[in-house]
Amino acid sequence: EHCKGVNGLDKVILREIRGCSAEVYLDGGQVTSWKNEFREQLLFLSSKATFKPPNAIRGGIQICFPQFGTIDSLEQHGFARNRLWSVDPDPPPFPANTSHRAFVDLILRHSEEEVKIWPHRYECRLRIALGPGGDLMLTSRIRNTNTDGKSFTFTFAYHTYFSVTDISEVRVEGLETLDYLDNLKNRERFTEQGDALTFESEVDKVYLSTPTKIAILDHDRKRTFVLRKDGLPDAVVWNPWDKKAKAMTDFGDDEYKHMLCVTAACVEKPIILKPGEEWKGRLEISAVPSSYCSGQ
Ligand code: BG6
Repeated sequence: EHCKGVNGLDKVILREIRGCSAEVYLDGGQVTSWKNEFREQLLFLSSKATFKPPNAIRGGIQICFPQFGTIDSLEQHGFARNRLWSVDPDPPPFPANTSHRAFVDLILRHSEEEVKIWPHRYECRLRIALGPGGDLMLTSRIRNTNTDGKSFTFTFAYHTYFSVTDISEVRVEGLETLDYLDNLKNRERFTEQGDALTFESEVDKVYLSTPTKIAILDHDRKRTFVLRKDGLPDAVVWNPWDKKAKAMTDFGDDEYKHMLCVTAACVEKPIILKPGEEWKGRLEISAVPSSYCSGQ
């Protein structure tokens, strides 16, 4: 279903029979809403989000390409989240044997303007699908369409803002004992000690070579988000906490208490694509009652 969202921007709504839904803005190719069958919002979207392209929308799932962070001279987290994507009117079918799903396929290609900033031609496809149980699946395919024989190098991330009841009661499992780069300490490398991660101050860490499954336990809501990822070895954990929250104009002062970014990413080892080659990355997120999840 295509309709107009905030400020008249184009969006697509996906619905599943039991009542789960997702909303995707063509600006940024960005998921801004994901609800379960009880119509509860599972993603964080700031009440101060501006919906003014080309600024990225604060919250949801931002596509970071061709870079995550600011390693290059490009804008932070790349330009894909600032561009207008289009809907593929004739998407390739789902593989045989998969049940019917609500989905939309988006495409972003280089613009002649952009080639001046990042001198490459590419096709970036993004399939956003709601699974039968309300799981949200994002699949990206990036192809090098350069005609001058040049390879290109990029990093990528699904910058995902989860909605949590109270950040001080949240635990993240699956990242303990891993190495990480600490963005708050000049990207120095450390090793995580101890059990599940908990939060009591600003955090901005890139965990390296993580397992494919990560869990976010929201104690108060007795809900666990489970992330499963492919082609995305790293995971970025970010919460701005009070001071940084105040400094961001499109983020409420207290909103840091109700969000956590756990971002499936490929940051440490950039991907190199030769002309004609394609890279594929995938993220699947589900929200399950905690009791169901424990001990898995
Ligand atoms: C995080 C980064 O994931 O995104 C942080 O690790 C950054 O360093 C944050 O501050 C938000 O970035 P932006 O560009 O959306 O304000």
